[in-house]
Amino acid sequence: MADAYDPLGQDKSLDRDCKTLSRHVLEQLNSFSPDAQDLSALMNRIALAAKLISRRLSQSGLVEGVLGFTGDVNVQGEEVKRMDLYANQVFISVFKQSGLVCRLASEEMEKPYYIPENCPIGRYTLLYDPIDGSSNIDINLNIGSIFSIRQQEGMDEDNSASDLLQNGRKQIAAGYILYGPSTMLVYTIGTGVHAFTLDPSLGEFILSHENITVPEIGPVYSVNEGNFWQWSESIRDYIRYVHRHEGYTARYSGALVGDFHRILFQGGVFLYPGTIKKPEGKLRLLYETAPLAFLIEQAGGRASTGTEEILDAVPEKLHARTPVIIGSKENVALVESFIAERKRQEAEEALAAK
Ligand code: AHG
Ligand code: MN
Ligand code: MN
Repeated sequence: MADAYDPLGQDKSLDRDCKTLSRHVLEQLNSFSPDAQDLSALMNRIALAAKLISRRLSQSGLVEGVLGFTGDVNVQGEEVKRMDLYANQVFISVFKQSGLVCRLASEEMEKPYYIPENCPIGRYTLLYDPIDGSSNIDINLNIGSIFSIRQQEGMDEDNSASDLLQNGRKQIAAGYILYGPSTMLVYTIGTGVHAFTLDPSLGEFILSHENITVPEIGPVYSVNEGNFWQWSESIRDYIRYVHRHEGYTARYSGALVGDFHRILFQGGVFLYPGTIKKPEGKLRLLYETAPLAFLIEQAGGRASTGTEEILDAVPEKLHARTPVIIGSKENVALVESFIAERKRQEAEEALAAK
């Protein structure tokens, strides 16, 4: 008969419950150095932001003033939802008096937000998309938050944040929070990709998936096909190809974090190509595509603009956008092959016309 008394610590569920996010970061770095402590504390604060946002979302249909629009338009030209604003503020609040983050830059703010009291010692900048998939908020479907941490370089005395206009390989950490049936936090600090699930009874994120690897190839293509006639011919060629071949299936939720999460675990590709009106596409490099590119590379996948790796792309301004093709290596390469083929044809035609 099993003995409930367990003096030798054989209770596996206890071990499981102890794998918290801050402990995991320290384990990954295999160090208690000041830098490791900083990263652990940073991730802990991000987890607190995630819990606050998750709590508010879970009550959103019951409490006044949570759902709907604020009536304002953000720097991206998009209508702001109340939850966008709340979540933006949550990240600022959790990093006040952290002594860690001097500057936050978000999709919802025109300029970086400084926490001057942190700046003498705070060497980090948090870049974030407070709510990703805002159109899903009012209908209780999955949404997310995306974050990225970079080292602040220089004192930024002219407030230009020019040190942020560097490629994605400068990221120290990146990840996202998925507010779905359960709340999950997925992160990388360059030592693989790890997922934590919020245990509401503990109020803690507990390690649920370690060293996630994305399949080399997957069946899903995830794209807004409503833009079909707005794309370049090469992307239309790719879509025609998947329509005509067996083994592909479409999934698109309207929230990048949700679509990306599916692909990370099950393989496939997410695309947001440029359109005629917006050749650079819709998604923002510093807050959306670069953090997810860091994750997918760490998981063994790829992220491309169509012409270069997302992690090599340098933004020309804070809110710069890039086309994105992200997911399983083979799926990304297939999309790129259609882009390369059209380019080759165009070059041939140009030569013949001379
Ligand atoms: P956000 O809500 O942060 O503005 O991002 C919305 C993004 C992304 O989550 C999603 O994949 C995409 O916009 C959907 O755009 P379309 O409606 O144009 O497909
Ligand atoms: Mn977004
Ligand atoms: Mn957003």
